[in-house]
Amino acid sequence: MTVRVLVDVPSTADETRWRSALAAAYPEGEWLADDANDVDVLVAWRPRADRFVRTRVRRAIFNLGAGVDALLALPTLPFDVPVYRLTDAGMAEQMAQYATAAVLRAFRELDAYAAQQRDGAWRARPPRDKATFGVAVLGLGVLGRAVIEALRPFGFPLHGWARTPATLPGVTVHAGPDALRDCLAEAAVCICLLPSTPGTRDLLDATRLAWLPRGAHLVNLARGELVVDADLVALLDAGHLAGATLDVFRTEPLPAGHPFWHHPAITITPHVSAATLHEASAAQVADGIRALAAGREPPGRVDRMHGY
Ligand SMILES: NC(=O)c1ccc[n+]([C@@H]2O[C@H](COP(=O)([O-])OP(=O)(O)OC[C@H]3O[C@@H](n4cnc5c(N)ncnc54)[C@H](OP(=O)(O)O)[C@@H]3O)[C@@H](O)[C@H]2O)c1
Repeated sequence: MTVRVLVDVPSTADETRWRSALAAAYPEGEWLADDANDVDVLVAWRPRADRFVRTRVRRAIFNLGAGVDALLALPTLPFDVPVYRLTDAGMAEQMAQYATAAVLRAFRELDAYAAQQRDGAWRARPPRDKATFGVAVLGLGVLGRAVIEALRPFGFPLHGWARTPATLPGVTVHAGPDALRDCLAEAAVCICLLPSTPGTRDLLDATRLAWLPRGAHLVNLARGELVVDADLVALLDAGHLAGATLDVFRTEPLPAGHPFWHHPAITITPHVSAATLHEASAAQVADGIRALAAGREPPGRVDRMHGY
């Protein structure tokens, strides 16, 4: 039986690109026009607000991203239709590159050397001991684990925080809300790779950011909502935190005039730490639809109760 598929992505240019990548990866599907009111599968990234009023989705929704927060926020999203998200699809390698760059930049004090260069100062700083430079990764999912593996060769003490207990060789895993303080206390660099859910929004507020040791760096690669902006700025201004590398923001693009833009201790990138790759993502979605059609469960099913 031919699977009837609809694509819903925000811009027309994007839609053309996604439709051609998806149709090439899954040529046996019937690709429907936007006004279809009954489909087997919806492939979507931030679908239009009235999508589920206009269109009945019978079998599954494939989210064209790892984070499902925007999709799950739609009040009309049917609860009985399974949602699948991208797992890796080329993002893990990119995250590992970005996170490694941020950690090494902090460990090797490249910002301090850049400041010395501006002052014309030729001055070696004392070497630092990797054994006392802990790195904590919040979120030990597909992306968090890829970051841990990329950091492993450098010999930093590695810590991870997740909702449920896990065993990862060479990593001290902290699980659940009561374990967060111990995890943060070990982090010279804290890398955030948590999903945005009711359990994680505003997680890194003044209290919890202060659990990081003095001089720590925060690297947020997940979602802006996880960090309380004003609390982060206050801790940087107070000198408790040394720096923050931020790829994600509560409002994107980051509004002009936001205090992050010109803060000397903040590095900003425009949500580029792991781009969604069209061909790799389309191939994963195509495999998922084929699995469904064959009566198998595709990978990446979202747990609607926990929101990720
Ligand atoms: N900046 C970018 O370009 C970009 C690109 C892709 C993704 N992202 C973000 O990265 C996030 C992570 O992606 P992923 O594929 O690695 O997700 P994932 O595989 O679902 O992993 C999520 C991890 O977070 C943990 N977690 C969830 N809720 C928690 C809570 N309340 N307390 C403690 N830990 C909690 C989970 O714990 P368990 O292991 O116990 O389940 C799991 O380890 C996405 O949700 C998205 O927001 C950003």
